[in-house]
Amino acid sequence: MTYTTLLFETTDGLARITINRPDKLNALNATVMRELGEAVTQVDADPAIRGVLITGAGPKAFVAGADITELGTQGPVGGKARAQLGQSVFRRLERLGKPVVAAVNGFALGGGCELAMACHLRVASENARFGQPEVKLGIGPGYGGTVRLPRLVGRGRALELLLTGDMIDAQEAWRIGLVNRVVPAERLLAEAEALLRKILENGPLAVRFVIEAVDAGLELPVDDALLLEANQFGLLSATADMREGTTAFTEKRKAVFRGA
Ligand code: COA
Repeated sequence: MTYTTLLFETTDGLARITINRPDKLNALNATVMRELGEAVTQVDADPAIRGVLITGAGPKAFVAGADITELGTQGPVGGKARAQLGQSVFRRLERLGKPVVAAVNGFALGGGCELAMACHLRVASENARFGQPEVKLGIGPGYGGTVRLPRLVGRGRALELLLTGDMIDAQEAWRIGLVNRVVPAERLLAEAEALLRKILENGPLAVRFVIEAVDAGLELPVDDALLLEANQFGLLSATADMREGTTAFTEKRKAVFRGA
């Protein structure tokens, strides 16, 4: 697959997707969103890809939001369609069943913050800045900001960011739980990859089911979420990987998982 606005590289089971419009701070125009959707499909279809790293090209930005020049020309029907397309791409990313880590290398604003939040984990460089500035443009978030931000940082903090449009730095993002860790810029990709590779050492079906249980479980009443967890626990007990994991523990060796 060839992309014009993304770099897509795979190494040892890990796909790195780089949003590549650095002259426009990697703003998400229609081409980026279409190609991001195609990249998600490519990851989904390739069993050799076990995890995904997402970052932005250049030293300044992860993604500085939806492309404002395109927003300026849209009407209500087109606006709704744009939001729903972006939401579905991000939701498919979130539900790939493979771990996705955002390496946030600068501005993560609007759709950029929303893309980072659709990833399972976020590693930020010290120069990263986060915000949902849509209200300053007279619009609201369209790619899940009102949905994922309060789930990540709580309603009060989310509303403050969403209503003021203020930017916060990486340390503040870490303090409120928006990012998992903050690292020096020069170590960002290595640290994000190390985090992802640590997850990839674990049983892939277990990882997939845990992501699914947390994603679905947050929306379910406690008893239903517990039932889902127990069902998955039972299902994983039927896998070769569970036998391998428990046997490797008793044999004091590293488990070799096959995803079966
Ligand atoms: N959409 C389209 N173009 C964007 C963009 C966006 N979201 N964000 C930045 N760009 C473009 C700028 O227009 C500029 O293009 P130009 O060189 O052709 O004029 C280029 O990227 C560099 O941005 P610039 O504003 O010059 O950089 P800066 O360092 O002065 O400011 C920001 C950086 C992030 C503070 C500023 O670009 C900004 O506020 N961007 C919009 C953020 C936003 O509101 N996002 C939510 C959109 S819903």
